[in-house]
Amino acid sequence: MKICAIVLSAGRSKRFKSSLPKYLHSIAGKAILDYNLDAIRSVKKINKIEIISNKENKKNFIEKGISPFIQNPINGTGGALKQIFNAKKLNSDYYLVTLSDTPIFDYKILRNFINKSISSKTDLSVLSQEVSNPHGYGRIVIKDKKLKSIVEENDCDIDQKKINLINTGIFFLSKKAISNINLIKKNLKKSEFYITDLIEICHQKKLKIDTYQNRSLPIQGVNTILELQDLDKFYQNFLKQKLMNEGVRIIHPETVYIENGVNISEGVIIEPNVVLKSNVNIGRGTIIKSFSYIEDCSVGINCQIGPFARIRPESKISNYAKIGNFVEIKKSSISEGVKINHLSYVGDANIGKNTNIGAGTITCNYDGKNKLSTKIGNNCFIGSNASIVAPVKIGNSAYVAAGSVITKNVKNNQFSISRTKQKNIKNRIK
Ligand code: UD1
Ligand code: MG
Repeated sequence: MKICAIVLSAGRSKRFKSSLPKYLHSIAGKAILDYNLDAIRSVKKINKIEIISNKENKKNFIEKGISPFIQNPINGTGGALKQIFNAKKLNSDYYLVTLSDTPIFDYKILRNFINKSISSKTDLSVLSQEVSNPHGYGRIVIKDKKLKSIVEENDCDIDQKKINLINTGIFFLSKKAISNINLIKKNLKKSEFYITDLIEICHQKKLKIDTYQNRSLPIQGVNTILELQDLDKFYQNFLKQKLMNEGVRIIHPETVYIENGVNISEGVIIEPNVVLKSNVNIGRGTIIKSFSYIEDCSVGINCQIGPFARIRPESKISNYAKIGNFVEIKKSSISEGVKINHLSYVGDANIGKNTNIGAGTITCNYDGKNKLSTKIGNNCFIGSNASIVAPVKIGNSAYVAAGSVITKNVKNNQFSISRTKQKNIKNRIK
């Protein structure tokens, strides 16, 4: 059985008022389009994916290695489907239609929807959903317990406006159902072809029509930045509640921002105003103190991070490490028991076990052209305000005196000092 997914993304995002197409805006760090594509790709039965774009945004897809079908003119959701169907002579048994402005959070919904539609031999299935505020969505009109039509906001009468079962925009169509696509007439109010009009056409053709109601995480299209904001808020809450159910203590969760791909073990404490972005892993017993910004890195067990710490991508903070206030770590490996407690920058560095990095220490990792690395051994003491000019290696149990500028390697167990000698001159006031 051949199933083709068609993603409609040729709209001009006019209500969104943003130069970036709405499907590239993200929710918890992931583009809306990717929620859609990932959900589609998770359905093994789908063997072809077609994406419909307008010509201005073609490049966004080419950059992702996707060659989209170009809709021209932009004449509605039904118009998009008509154009691709006529131009590409598609010959699948079934078609899944999704909208790129509609993230799908729970992939299971799509699988269940497709399986149910196939097993019940339905020609046209609509994925519907109950919402508290249906304004702007196509309303699902049911008569005698059967799907009669979908009426768009502009065409709803007073009673239809009260219906809160809405069209998610996701359809599953048999070959027979989609072959009627050219019978859709232009909606005169909007001068567009509506895919939703296919329902009444399929009724006339006596095809089997049904609606499948989503009762899992919401599937809601976003047409404005405020709608995106609401959905983002919902999804943030969902991610945080899931973590709290798994034993993560998030204090004042409404102030904490967490992205997809963040993995936090039980017993971790997240204080207010923390940002955790993309692929952060945090081991049990660690505390992330307020105002820390942590991105794409791993933090071991029983660590203390922050307040006001910034951990940048590709960093590894091992167990029992302490990263204190106003410390920035970039692309570095910080071993077990290391303390970097105050006002430091550690970039492209490898810091050995139990080493103490004093306040204000900087690894000078950039010579204006290249990024250079620093290696500091185990059990070292780096005095405050040291500048370690990379590339440089400091051995195990070395001691660097405060204020030193280190430009040469320091061997194991050496004491290194590099600062001008202090002079104390008498009789300062004559
Ligand atoms: C659409 C549905 C509505 C449903 C809602 C769900 C129609 C007529 N209306 O309304 O019933 O409740 O989605 O969110 O289908 N697009 C194209 N080409 C076009 C026009 C749109 O590819 O010519 C794409 C857009 O990029 C977008 C999607 O289709 O991803 C939906 O278009 P949009 O204008 O957002 O439709 P809605 O008004 O939200
Ligand atoms: Mg929409």
